[in-house]
Amino acid sequence: MVKLSGKTKVYGVIGYPIEHSLSPVFQNIFFSRLGIDAVYVPFSVPPEDLQTAIEGLKALGVKGVNVTIPHKERVLQFVDFVDEHVEKIGSSNTLKFVDGKVYAYNTDWIGFLKAVQGLIEPGKRVLLLGAGGAARAVLYALLQRKDRVFIFNRSKEKAYKLAETFGAEVIDRPEDVLKDVDLIVNATSVGLVDKSWLFDYTLIEDRHVVYDIVYGQTELIRRAKSKGAKCEDGLSMLVHQGAESFKIWTGMEVPQDLVDECIKTLRE
Ligand code: ATR
Repeated sequence: MVKLSGKTKVYGVIGYPIEHSLSPVFQNIFFSRLGIDAVYVPFSVPPEDLQTAIEGLKALGVKGVNVTIPHKERVLQFVDFVDEHVEKIGSSNTLKFVDGKVYAYNTDWIGFLKAVQGLIEPGKRVLLLGAGGAARAVLYALLQRKDRVFIFNRSKEKAYKLAETFGAEVIDRPEDVLKDVDLIVNATSVGLVDKSWLFDYTLIEDRHVVYDIVYGQTELIRRAKSKGAKCEDGLSMLVHQGAESFKIWTGMEVPQDLVDECIKTLRE
């Protein structure tokens, strides 16, 4: 049980909509298991209120927040300092408030890195689907691993822009590289609601590793599983990015077994 007092620190997540966020579930588990007197709450912030919300969080003495859709890029207009990864990726998912100043970090890329490191060793060939904000963080992480990345996106210009910025190859059809890649990553928003196929999923082989940043039994995960491929959904990335945010706020490392337990809890 959380016992609140005048000393309890407040953390949270800002987004719009925010009702479906899973971050409060596991962040509160982190705080209570690691014995920190703090709570983590969801804040619904419409785009037009973003600046006022940041000022309000500062005024209320909130210690830190996660930032989610649709604020990850625009929030940078209202912060005082950004870390090197935010500068390169162009978005932030973690803010820390210190002495009236706002520090912006990005832990999405480390979350992805940690999620895939247990699935496949670095230095592989990767098919990356998507070229939006999430794909940027994923590509950044893949390049830290020295993977060779082939990008496919519905709008080709966006794929070229991303490839130019970071250094990757753009392909016309995912089917053209399936034989050559080891890892397939879905970083588009196609998943549970939009069930359309991004490529011919019947061509997935059991030697492929498939990572879908969307949570749950997506069509891609379902098909990959039926082909015997090793696969994982985005819950592991979510909990890992949260654990990294937690470390930034508290200086404490979340033990691996607690991260794993939270991923399992969210899956149930
Ligand atoms: P996020 O910040 O979550 O990445 P985003 O920047 O809007 O969101 O990017 C969404 C990604 O999903 C894009 O790569 C988008 O492709 P386009 O650039 O062509 O729009 C991709 N996407 C969304 N719906 C899609 C669909 N039905 N088929 C293929 N790609 C889709």
